[in-house]
Amino acid sequence: MSVYIRSDILRMSGYVAGEQPSAQSSVVKLNTNENPYRASAKIYEAIRQVLDAGLSRYPDPFANEFRAAAARKFDIEPAMILCGNGSDDLLTILTRTFVGSGELLRLPYPTYILYRSLAEIQGAKHEIVQFNTDWSLPDKFYSGKTDLRLAFLPNPNSPSGTIIPKQRILEIAEKLPCPLVVDEAYADFADESCIDLVGRCERIIVIRTLSKSYSLAGLRFGFLVAQPELVNQMMKVKDSYNCDSISIAAATAAINDNEWLAENTKKIINTRKILTEKMRAIGFNVPDSNANFTWNTKPDIDVRLIYEYLKSHGTLVRYMNYPEWGDGLRISVGTEEQINNCIKLIQNYTNKSL
Ligand SMILES: Cc1ncc(COP(=O)(O)O)c(C=O)c1O
Repeated sequence: MSVYIRSDILRMSGYVAGEQPSAQSSVVKLNTNENPYRASAKIYEAIRQVLDAGLSRYPDPFANEFRAAAARKFDIEPAMILCGNGSDDLLTILTRTFVGSGELLRLPYPTYILYRSLAEIQGAKHEIVQFNTDWSLPDKFYSGKTDLRLAFLPNPNSPSGTIIPKQRILEIAEKLPCPLVVDEAYADFADESCIDLVGRCERIIVIRTLSKSYSLAGLRFGFLVAQPELVNQMMKVKDSYNCDSISIAAATAAINDNEWLAENTKKIINTRKILTEKMRAIGFNVPDSNANFTWNTKPDIDVRLIYEYLKSHGTLVRYMNYPEWGDGLRISVGTEEQINNCIKLIQNYTNKSL
């Protein structure tokens, strides 16, 4: 049947998401950067109200209730916000809006693997610029080709959790010949955000998700902040009803609940500190993380075997191997108990293998 399939699609291997055992499974999931805590009770109440009203009507295609709430929170115009079915949906919309077939997109490396898959699906070319070994970004990221159509930059980055300072982001955006998408999936766990840079540099587009810091990965809701003119063009590309009534109401309740967010991020950041210090004490290299995960490397042992040992003991972390860069374990910040258990298992393994 492959004769019917576009050659671009046949050639690509496709994005592989992290393992998702069934919801009933007792496996401790530290592999896909989900939040270990239950979302705000206000969200469940908002969902109940939508269900009580019934689901026979189409949702608001623009999610205006959410746009108004997010605009208030970030002190921007609602017209600067575009909502999506998770931030992956927004990344797809961006690629389809800005990068035509055969055109060029730039990404750092190692980073979120989906960017590359999106370029491949679009039949676009992509150019990779490696991070420096300290996870800073070389000037090469903005120099060279003038036919670039779009650049993706996750900040904080995955898998490293590291951050590029805001001033440097502004410098990069001003020197690039195309829009710069700053993917802030993890920014609520960091000290700074680039949302206010959108007003200072028209080429900056910032994406946020509610999957991580709001404990809503199962709901699917994200939004982006860009110049209204760009948002209007992207509106033409998105599915008409890309966010449903339940997710719009839940996301609106979430973004309004600043108290819940502050408490939750504080807990995650405290546990991240424990995870970082203990992994360093075992001998892993762990860059300072600004996200809800850490990147752990140890060139003198085969870390894949640790991943397998953890899995056989009911804890899933993410083993990543980046050609020409190296491999490591990305460990999501779970509850303090989950992290302490995970670390004990890693200690057992490394003691045995010495
Ligand atoms: C850098 C980055 N961007 C975007 C996403 C996707 O998030 P969402 O659940 O909103 O699609 C992820 C998910 O892991 C991510 O790591």
